[in-house]
Amino acid sequence: METKIKEILQAGRNAMSQATELKELEDIRVKFLGKKGQVTELLKSMNTLTVEEKKNVGKMVNLAKKELEDLLDSKKEALKETLKAEKLKGETIDVTEPGQTFEIGRRHPITQVIDQVVSIFSSMGYEIIEGPLVDTVFNAFDGLNSPKTHPSRDLTDTFYLDEENCLRPHTSTVQIRTLQDREVPIKMISPGRCFRCDTPDATHSPMFHQIEGMVVDKGITMADLKGSLDYMAKQLFGPETKTKFRPHHFPFTEPSAEMDVSCFKCGGKGCNVCKGSGWIEILGCGMTHPNVHSVGNIDTEEYTGFAFGMGVERIAMLKYGIDDIRYFYENDMRFLEQFK
Ligand code: DAH
Repeated sequence: METKIKEILQAGRNAMSQATELKELEDIRVKFLGKKGQVTELLKSMNTLTVEEKKNVGKMVNLAKKELEDLLDSKKEALKETLKAEKLKGETIDVTEPGQTFEIGRRHPITQVIDQVVSIFSSMGYEIIEGPLVDTVFNAFDGLNSPKTHPSRDLTDTFYLDEENCLRPHTSTVQIRTLQDREVPIKMISPGRCFRCDTPDATHSPMFHQIEGMVVDKGITMADLKGSLDYMAKQLFGPETKTKFRPHHFPFTEPSAEMDVSCFKCGGKGCNVCKGSGWIEILGCGMTHPNVHSVGNIDTEEYTGFAFGMGVERIAMLKYGIDDIRYFYENDMRFLEQFK
């Protein structure tokens, strides 16, 4: 019996010293001190002993039991402490570690060009007026003196919603809206999205951007048009930039012109950007047709004006040397990141 007690005690000590988890310790408690544990079984088996034997053995068993209970308690405390220390260690914050950096977003190249052009005209006192993307056929064509047979009215060119409404094919719609809504004098610029039935390729997109401009006042002449657009070109492409106006036709202006700027890459000598000509076509413009002014009930004898419209993608492509318009809309970070 005595050896048995010693064995059990030793086994208990060993088991407890090796335990590394609270769960393990609980199993040990059950194994030795539980209802059916080894120590409890020992106490039960003492029934068979004589009174004298019971005294000695009982004392031994109780001592062993007490030792194991104390061991269990202290081991439990020690384990809790180590576990807590480990947990804290895992949760420590290294205050010297560098912080996480966040990439600062940048404006899309199309937005950058719009912002530049708008700020140039704002500095000349132009008001910014935006128009809706869905507009009336009247504002897109009729009001702009466009003949009923004009090819751009075709279903193959313009996206129609019904007979009277379409996705605006140009920002010139805002000319009509402004003439109807405002009093003269008018000096406005209108950037925004336009839509045409074009199959996407390197230079076409069914959605693109334009910037429209219009001035109406007493005594406005072609000299005002040329002076204002020449100033814009110099601001946008550099002070050495020259401009040239070639006769053209638009239904809403008379006379009409297209403006070329001297190539900002080669300075006019001829290169791949200007395709050897030294000049780059930038925009359409002209003196607003009296029929357009009539839409706003403006006295066409007293008031004259000029208007212009430019393609934003085209300017951005030339400015940044981009050879495919589709890059603008793909949202590829590798492309967008380049435009700081
Ligand atoms: N609306 C023309 C286009 O989409 C551009 C344009 C040309 C606008 C001459 C004008 C202008 O205001 O006067 O091609």
